[in-house]
Amino acid sequence: MNVLGIETTCDETAAAIVAAGEDGRGLIRANEVLSQIAEHAAYGGVVPEIAARAHVEVLDRLIARALDTAGMRLAEVDGIAVAAGPGLIGGVLIGLVTAKTLALVARKPLLAVNHLEAHALTARLTDGLAFPYLLLLASGGHTQLVAVKGVGDYVRLGTTIDDAIGEAFDKVAKLLGLGYPGGPEVERMAEGGDPERFALPRPMLGRHEANFSLSGLKTALRIEAERIAPLAERDVADLCASFQAAVVDVVVDRLRVGLRAFAEVAGHPTALVAAGGVSANGAIRRALAAQAGEAGLAFVAPPLNLCGDNGAMIAWAGLERLRLGLVDDLTAPARARWPFAEPKAA
Ligand code: KG4
Ligand code: ZN
Repeated sequence: MNVLGIETTCDETAAAIVAAGEDGRGLIRANEVLSQIAEHAAYGGVVPEIAARAHVEVLDRLIARALDTAGMRLAEVDGIAVAAGPGLIGGVLIGLVTAKTLALVARKPLLAVNHLEAHALTARLTDGLAFPYLLLLASGGHTQLVAVKGVGDYVRLGTTIDDAIGEAFDKVAKLLGLGYPGGPEVERMAEGGDPERFALPRPMLGRHEANFSLSGLKTALRIEAERIAPLAERDVADLCASFQAAVVDVVVDRLRVGLRAFAEVAGHPTALVAAGGVSANGAIRRALAAQAGEAGLAFVAPPLNLCGDNGAMIAWAGLERLRLGLVDDLTAPARARWPFAEPKAA
């Protein structure tokens, strides 16, 4: 079984072909990603109209290239998966209309995949992981702790009440005059910095719902930065290191709570899983691995090229749905907002 996956929800245009592999894993036969970072860099963030136009310009070629790399013709794929949301609606529409057209012309099942669900299922693509597992999904727009119990069966244990973790990294980078996207820049600067120079808050520490709050931390950092301005390179490094250390402490504390909440809804997890762009962060990965170790759990995080947005995760989520007969028809809507997990009952 081979599925074509298309991703256009944000600033990456991506197309991939994934097959069912051995041990329950997926086999990535092609994974083409074209980042639009250069197009948005001058604006310090993603401009939706520029993103949509850039998707239109390259998507056809990218799909052709993915088929080429996999050595397949469209007629040979078993399904066409596309991220139908959540995301920037212009981009989502381009991916969805393209996928619908291909599905119609080639008479293939359409799989309208939730982008967040695709991040959530990536650990099965890479590691063939069994359900249920505890997921920390952290990206530019989302921060959630989720009990992943099965395909389409997700319980949200906690979420952010303000900024997403990736968003906080991006805002801090902007504030400090670093490039976009901010996460990798802040991490790079933090490497040479002193994480103890600035005493930044650890919001939500000790609270017993598994929610996050990041905006106070970002504000505290801004106040420190303004206090010592103009900033030397050393100051920026120390600010980044102090910020990242605070985020790590918050994540570890929130996960501790998340693990308890998980037991209530899903019993014992097979693993602790990280997904989404932020899971590329080395400091966060190391802290999660240590925490999983303490809890006697395996830690699974995608390789770096599958942390950020990509087509392989969309193809895989489509494949999982196709196997279960969860196909969509041509009326599937594009959704700017699309929660994928049910909140845990209080
Ligand atoms: O999942 P993703 O590629 O796109 C969505 O938001 O769906 O995540 C992008 C986010 C951005 O906010 C980016 O700054 C953050 O992930 N990110 C990082 C790192 N790499 C990417 N945050 C912290 N450390 C990193 N190394
Ligand atoms: Zn994403």
